[in-house]
Amino acid sequence: MLSKTLIVNGIARDIVADGETTLADILRKNLSLTGTKVGCDTGHCGACSVIVDTKLIRSCSYKFKRLKQHATITTIEGVGTPDNLHPLQLAWILHGGAQCGFCTPGFIVSAKALLDLNPNPTREDVRDWFQKHRNACRCTGYKQLTDSVMDAAAVMRGDKDIKALSWELPEDQRIWGTRYPKPSAVARVTGMTDFGADKILKMPEDTLHMALVQAEVSHANIVSIDTTEAEKMEGVFKVVTHKDVPGKNRITGLITFPTNKGDGWDRPILCDEKVFQYGDALAIVCADTEAHAKAAAAKVTVVLEQLPEYMNAPAAMDDNAMEIHPGTPNIYFEQTVKKGESTETIFEKAPVVVEDDFYTQRQPHMPIEPDVGFAYFDDEERLVVHSKSVGLYLHHAMVAPGIGIEADKLVLVQNPAGGTFGYKFNPTMEALLGVAALATKRPVALCYDYVQQQIYTGKRSPWFSHLKLAADESGKLLAMESDWTVDHGPYSEFGDLLTLRGAQFIGSGYNIPSINGIGRCVATNHAWGAAFRGFGAPEGEFGSEVLMDELAEKLGMDPLELRYANVYRKGSTTPTGQEPEVYSLPEMIDILRPIYKEAQAKAAANSTNEVKRGVGVSIGVLCAGLDGPDHGSADIELNEDGTVTLYSTWEDHGQGADSGMTCTAHEALRPLQLAPEDIRLVMNDMSRCPDSGPAGGSRSQVIVGRAVMDACEKLLAAMTTKDGSFRSYAQMVEEGLPLRYSGSWTIPAEACGENSQGKPFIFYMYGLFMAEVAVTLETGVTEVEKMTLVADIGTVGNKLIVDGQMYGGIAQGIGMALFEDFEDIKKHSTMLGAGFPYIKQIPDDMELIYVETPRKEGPFGASGMGELPLTTPHAAVINAITQACGVRITELPARPEKVLAALKNK
Ligand code: FES
Ligand code: FES
Repeated sequence: MLSKTLIVNGIARDIVADGETTLADILRKNLSLTGTKVGCDTGHCGACSVIVDTKLIRSCSYKFKRLKQHATITTIEGVGTPDNLHPLQLAWILHGGAQCGFCTPGFIVSAKALLDLNPNPTREDVRDWFQKHRNACRCTGYKQLTDSVMDAAAVMRGDKDIKALSWELPEDQRIWGTRYPKPSAVARVTGMTDFGADKILKMPEDTLHMALVQAEVSHANIVSIDTTEAEKMEGVFKVVTHKDVPGKNRITGLITFPTNKGDGWDRPILCDEKVFQYGDALAIVCADTEAHAKAAAAKVTVVLEQLPEYMNAPAAMDDNAMEIHPGTPNIYFEQTVKKGESTETIFEKAPVVVEDDFYTQRQPHMPIEPDVGFAYFDDEERLVVHSKSVGLYLHHAMVAPGIGIEADKLVLVQNPAGGTFGYKFNPTMEALLGVAALATKRPVALCYDYVQQQIYTGKRSPWFSHLKLAADESGKLLAMESDWTVDHGPYSEFGDLLTLRGAQFIGSGYNIPSINGIGRCVATNHAWGAAFRGFGAPEGEFGSEVLMDELAEKLGMDPLELRYANVYRKGSTTPTGQEPEVYSLPEMIDILRPIYKEAQAKAAANSTNEVKRGVGVSIGVLCAGLDGPDHGSADIELNEDGTVTLYSTWEDHGQGADSGMTCTAHEALRPLQLAPEDIRLVMNDMSRCPDSGPAGGSRSQVIVGRAVMDACEKLLAAMTTKDGSFRSYAQMVEEGLPLRYSGSWTIPAEACGENSQGKPFIFYMYGLFMAEVAVTLETGVTEVEKMTLVADIGTVGNKLIVDGQMYGGIAQGIGMALFEDFEDIKKHSTMLGAGFPYIKQIPDDMELIYVETPRKEGPFGASGMGELPLTTPHAAVINAITQACGVRITELPARPEKVLAALKNK
């Protein structure tokens, strides 16, 4: 043990600790300074950045023994406080720099270290600094962070007034349509938001810490699991196996499609008979400390009989492949699409036909915060499970029977989440926490490390597509044939729905009179398929958007003009045969055209023999809402002090659910003239909030938004007196009027019928992407120099939040185009290995243009928005590579070696 005095945020603190302890642990555990977050824990993300003396360091990989006596340490708590915010924190709020906020303390501390050294940096200096210090953000797309540093630096130099960093309410006091910063922004920029791991540090002393015993093969029969040695290890309270699970020990995928050949009960909580994928949980050690739990987990002996591993869909579809789930064929769901006349005769006669194969990869979500949760029994003897769930009521139904608990005895709560991007649309550790708490009758906690985050949470399912387009000589589309295969890993949850998206969205944006296609969902032994932002659009539309460029090339047409000739106009129908709710795509192309021409001229002028530049475009379309009559609820309550409290389970990935609730309610309650702070939020706790539905499918703003409006309207109606004035709280009580009102809304849509025809959605989002890239011929390295997005998401409710979603989604699309993958389980199990895009991989130059076409049914005209930016930006990048250097990459990601090989084969 070592004893040292450290000067932490200006105060001398005496610390006694093992010399091997990391500085992050000293700060978080010894000093309770939980503003310093730990993400990757391996030096890849910068979430743990602090300043030691004058040097910026990553505290997760800096040992206590390295610190000198009286070393000075600055953490986020020493940068500024809620009532005395540092200019950097103010700027981060103003620019929407904190989405989930998990990376934020590390970035702000890092920026402070930069400005201490260089008070007048250029934007490139800022980007170089964040790149060098590996500050990683998965939410924002980085541009706002550079904006924040530049503005804060200007204020600190005295070049700008500090007032420039404050957001002011407009004169009409309206926040809808403005850049109102989200209510939780101050907590996030000061490091005061308690994420799951922070809360675990504050749990009761008798909390047991969990460690998983996980499979290190991808497919096997289980012969035996021996826990004897592990039970004897220091600090162990219990080793839990499938034998301790009172329920069905399965997570149900809630299959709703009668044509699904499985029953949905395919995912074990703790494996009993078989291992289906690498990382599957075999046992849980519950011990007094995490270190003891991990040490004991290594002593559990598992005997396995290895089976053939089917690591992709073609392997699992082979005639000789065994059934991964005995009794269920590996191809367990098929979905056809048929629209218009038979495509066969059209293709026979069509003047121009193009076809190609496409592959989109197993994209990892890579939130900075790894998965985390805890569980306990409350005073009403209910099992309460806290996690990053973005589908509380949904997950409740998926895990309760498997755990073996009565539905009314299980409560799910969402912790503030350090990013999910959809992986938490699927349960991850909720059932593991539940069975461990049930088996031990003690509070339990589980923190995944980053390798576990990678190997044992769901991923975007790879798609193999073959697409064919027919057109006349003018480029008018006549027909499409499509065939797509979804590699969904071993677990079926939402795989059928994802496969349906191929029928609904391949070729969407264009009026294609005849479509014939079939898709299939396949069980494999690679990582299970989870929702990921875009859910089917980035996978399915990638092929159709690249094929449109191939068609343009064959016709000798400009790719943008080919799109212009075919996009939805009055009389057009979607692939499901539905009339779109708005027709904004021609206008969007008209807006982009001059910008596109200018970009093309610039690319031509700036291309050299070594570096070729090109411009690519793509159209992206996606629904907002789940199929058919999607439904959600929200409540409102009038408080004694005249404020209101809103209740909902509008779960927050970091996208700004608090802002969505506040802005919508503030607009709906305009007659009451409330200040935004008068709207209090109680969110994401099933014991206190109604079922708003999951936060996925870009549904929350439209459905929960309408439910909030409904609740507000009911409250306003109850408060309104005959003369049009409003009753006070006291008058409401005196007259015996209820104070709490429930609102709800159901989308007037119908799920698709046979052959995927119908009107499954009434809200869509439309995007037109333009990528400007530079390809270095010698290395095959592609740099995206600029991205432009023209978007129609209806009326924009909060420009700050929407901009943030657009930048962040585009950045993930660039990652999908060029870098990211989770194919090689070993190599891709870290952020660096999986191709996480850092700031220099994402262009600083991103332009957003909104075409605000109000949606009739939307809350104040809004549609959804969160997934639009990740519909097809990757297709624009790939099309731009072709325009730059003549090679077309149809299998993602387009890493340099792939581009180089294609250049050599040209
Ligand atoms: S670099 Fe320390 S937590 Fe990621
Ligand atoms: S705001 Fe940066 S990771 Fe979420």
